[in-house]
Amino acid sequence: AAILAAVALLGYMLGSIPFGVVITKLMGLGDLRQIGSGNIGATNVLRTGNKAAAAATLILDGAKGAVAVLLVEWFLGSEAAAQIAGVAAFIGHLYPVWLRFRGGKGVATFLGTLLALAWPLGIAACLAWLVTALVTRISSLSALVAAALSVPLAQILGYRELMPAAAIMAVLIFWRHRANIQRLAQGREPKIGKKT
Ligand code: G3P
Repeated sequence: AAILAAVALLGYMLGSIPFGVVITKLMGLGDLRQIGSGNIGATNVLRTGNKAAAAATLILDGAKGAVAVLLVEWFLGSEAAAQIAGVAAFIGHLYPVWLRFRGGKGVATFLGTLLALAWPLGIAACLAWLVTALVTRISSLSALVAAALSVPLAQILGYRELMPAAAIMAVLIFWRHRANIQRLAQGREPKIGKKT
């Protein structure tokens, strides 16, 4: 139990690094919380107009979930502990201590975590995001589709043991997209790269 608590803490600490905030500040792009949706993720970094900053945020926010999983797999060799680390990193992104627990929506970290836990499932979730994004050009809707599909995809692809972790992350992604869901219902959700 002490080991699992340490694993959860490690994942949480990694996940709570708000790369979007750090990168926009370092690159002199302003305070991300005052831009667009105010969210700390790559979609909102893109609203600064800086594609490189958005790409770096996407990759690093994804990588922190993957690194949490892979570190635990390598050092403990336990799939269950790796799942705990990945979900903890995801929760760290949503509720980071550094930002007084006001974090992001978890999409990149969710995808990075799934890629590290089971790459075919991760690729499938990324494809679900990408196809929806290509068709609708709306980041939040793509995230909701990818999150919702991750649970049935885990079953179809033979990763039943990952269904609870995928379900927890999917539910939290929907919860964190409450404002986006309202805007989607009203037809007011901006397309990728647009401010309004
Ligand atoms: O990754 C978060 C995305 O799904 C929505 O971001 O800034 O449009 O609320 P945003």
